[in-house]
Amino acid sequence: MSDDKIHFNGSHHLIHDFKHYQTLYQQSIDTPDAFWGEVGQRLDWFSPYTTVANAHFKDNHEIKWYEDGTLNACYNCIDRHLPDKANDTAITWQGDNPDTYQRITYQALYNAVGKFANGLKSLGVKKGDRVIIYLPMIPEAAYAMLACARIGAVHSVVFGGFSAESLASRIKDCQAAYVITADFSTRGGKRIPLKNNVNKALESTSDIVKRVITIYTDGDNDNNGNSGSNSHDYSEDIPANTEREIAYHTLINAQSPDCEPAVMNAEDPLFILYTSGSTGTPKGVLHTTGGYLVYAAYTHEVLFDYRPGELFWCTADVGWITGHTYMIYGPLANGANTLLYEGIPTYPTPARFWQICEQHRVNIFYTAPTAIRSLMTEGEQYATGHNLSSLRILGSVGEPINVEAWQWYHQHIGNKTCPIVDTWWQTETGGHMIAPIPYVWDQVPGKATLPFFGVKPVLLDEKGQEITAPDHEGSLAFKHSWPGQMRTVYGDHQRFIDTYFQTFPGYYFSGDGAIRDADGYIRITGRVDDILNISGHRMGTAELEDAFNLHPKVAETAVVGYPHDIKGQGLYVYATLFKGETPSDELKKELVAWIREKIGPIATPDKLHFTPELPRTRSGKIMRRILRKIAENDIDGIGDVSTLANPAIVETLIKTRIA
Ligand code: PRX
Repeated sequence: MSDDKIHFNGSHHLIHDFKHYQTLYQQSIDTPDAFWGEVGQRLDWFSPYTTVANAHFKDNHEIKWYEDGTLNACYNCIDRHLPDKANDTAITWQGDNPDTYQRITYQALYNAVGKFANGLKSLGVKKGDRVIIYLPMIPEAAYAMLACARIGAVHSVVFGGFSAESLASRIKDCQAAYVITADFSTRGGKRIPLKNNVNKALESTSDIVKRVITIYTDGDNDNNGNSGSNSHDYSEDIPANTEREIAYHTLINAQSPDCEPAVMNAEDPLFILYTSGSTGTPKGVLHTTGGYLVYAAYTHEVLFDYRPGELFWCTADVGWITGHTYMIYGPLANGANTLLYEGIPTYPTPARFWQICEQHRVNIFYTAPTAIRSLMTEGEQYATGHNLSSLRILGSVGEPINVEAWQWYHQHIGNKTCPIVDTWWQTETGGHMIAPIPYVWDQVPGKATLPFFGVKPVLLDEKGQEITAPDHEGSLAFKHSWPGQMRTVYGDHQRFIDTYFQTFPGYYFSGDGAIRDADGYIRITGRVDDILNISGHRMGTAELEDAFNLHPKVAETAVVGYPHDIKGQGLYVYATLFKGETPSDELKKELVAWIREKIGPIATPDKLHFTPELPRTRSGKIMRRILRKIAENDIDGIGDVSTLANPAIVETLIKTRIA
């Protein structure tokens, strides 16, 4: 069944019309080497590649692109733009404080990154070393990533909202000898201590971490692209182990801005980013240099119809893949002006996003449905009070966008003239996979629509057969590799194979369900595995349960999601206690504090339900389906429970359900 389509007037600067897309798409599928061989030319290579794809979804599951080419990602994001763009803004940084911003030119970026890179080298950081970046949304986060890329170190950015324990587990997993952090993160007018978390993480990682670089953020940014002064007395803040600790400004002070970029093979690692899976601890998703950067740059230009001189704002945090690909690597590889915002959407008022759009004249705005839904509940007066006429394209990412939110975004932010690019992709895919190319085809609210070039989606039934009939839901998988695809799970290639290629041999399985209409438009229906998407943050139920179960009073937990008006999904936790322990509000608070410490505030449960037992099959398996139905308050959907080992508990759970 086809829905009513929405047409946007305008033309794309690269893709002339739908027919042009179809021709290019067909070429990209039929002759991928020729297609991506040409697209790869958009980067500057130190030595050219002679092969393009060498990727296998079977046997060794090795994925290689441009494998004999050499390049440097930082050089591609900065140096090559200098002849034309030295004085153009590369990064527009907007502080949490509305009066504080910086415009950092490509030349200033070159200088800052070069100094940082030389500083890292002076500490002994070498090609291939892992560097953890645990920073707020300050310009130095971009400098740190690019400085690592410049010298061939592999960065792993850890979201500043993760706890000390989450940080420590990532340091251990990738054996990072270097950590870059800041004293504080400033959000919503509040200062949140970050360095304290690093100090705590160091208690269990001091045999791994050799050096910690701390950026002191105390009010030393000005509006002219000069960040940092030397007025701070760093000695006050530096904990006892002075041999390990160094202040960022001390490190870079005497460094030269010129740092020779390392010659990297296309398949040398660029970064590791941890993401939750349906089992075990978070996985280190590994992206390499050449294919990732080609894909980041090309998708950024095509899907946002990015044109030189435009200001592009991706509101994601740098700790997520969206922050990597569409705040840093994609835009900078394209010589764009990319906006980094330190704060939150609602400070000082719920008009903040729109005020920033007006102040800086943002042209392309990319955010998550959660943000739209929460601003929608505040009322459109915050948006209509601002001049949003600079906006040309809007984007959405991270979770399915419901029709109501789409319509609100369309009407109140896009003034019914801006295409909304609903981009489906994942940490693993490196860049956009399914999304409407603006102006090239008509849109349907809530549908990510058609695949990007080179992307061959299929919907599979339970038997692994491809579903071709329209309007049937199936598991979303991909038949061929694309340049931005993750290459492995860091340190555990078998886990890569087991996670993505075992369910449907020969395909990359995304973990999402989808449905395709008669026009081929795809609508993502959400995860079909045990991964939750809370406010666009991905969390594995197993990881959460493991963390709860470590609490000395907790015997067992089962975590499920339920529909939540603003967050998309809310977190519903069922917990059983050890004998002798009694449920209480106090204990609830204790468990909330516990999970915030184990994982971070993003894992705070919305509902915590103490129960004497969990429903189980006769073989002892927890019946999650029933727990989900109860959490969703779909009591009629529970069905027959007579085959359970303990059917009576279902009635109790329904009665005690947390509304
Ligand atoms: O379930 C899909 C959902 O987010 C998951 C990927 O999460 P993560 O790796 O954290 O990356 C988020 C940013 C790319 C997917 O498996 N998802 C992402 N974008 C969309 C989406 N669901 C529906 N529509 C989208 N546009």
